[in-house]
Amino acid sequence: MDGNGRWAKKRLLPRVAGHAQGFERVRNIIEICLDRSIEYVTLFAFSSENWRRPQEEVSRLMGLFVMALESEVSRMHRNGVCLHVVGDLSRFDERLRDLIAEGEQRTRNNQRLTLTICANYGGRWDILNAVNNWRRDNPAAVEVDEQALAPYLSMSYAPEPDLFIRTGGEQRISNFLLWQLAYAELYFTDTLWPDFDAEKLDLAIASFRKRERRFGRTSEQLLER
Ligand code: FPP
Repeated sequence: MDGNGRWAKKRLLPRVAGHAQGFERVRNIIEICLDRSIEYVTLFAFSSENWRRPQEEVSRLMGLFVMALESEVSRMHRNGVCLHVVGDLSRFDERLRDLIAEGEQRTRNNQRLTLTICANYGGRWDILNAVNNWRRDNPAAVEVDEQALAPYLSMSYAPEPDLFIRTGGEQRISNFLLWQLAYAELYFTDTLWPDFDAEKLDLAIASFRKRERRFGRTSEQLLER
């Protein structure tokens, strides 16, 4: 969800106003995804590197996360949304961690849409965390393979993403779901996150539908299947 700061700057507003507008867009996009019967949505809300931002911005973002959890969990529950928050949550304050745990607990049986918020998340952290936890459970083992490691990754409850969308014009993955994106289709748009509306999402989905997903096979093999 890149581009909140630039959206604000264009309007001579402080960066945090861009994040507030970004949050409105999150609510809107989740509704559109529910409407489109999309079953899994994963949002990169705060990376391990975002702590380097000015203290004022970090603390306003934390306030926004608290407010979002306080105001949105009931609505999510009514709409059949199952909430997960993944990342190293140990650095967040207790109030935020409690709200996350309550939100996850309350919505855990919902099945219409699984919403994952990545917070203090990094793809490399996820892989290293999985390896370390696997090793803890298998102290005598020498090597780990993909199948053994997969259950230890933070999003083991979800299928791997089909489509990755980055707003805001940069064309990189920036330490998002490094393992899970191995076969995802990548879509980059100059649209700033607060401007990413239903029409823009539909353009991304239309682009995805035109792609041939071969997973290592040839086009001829796909036709034979
Ligand atoms: C990147 O834009 C955005 C963030 C670091 C924060 C994302 C947060 C939200 C969309 C609001 C709250 C979300 C939830 C899930 C409650 P940027 O600041 O890097 O923008 P810039 O590149 O234009 O400066």
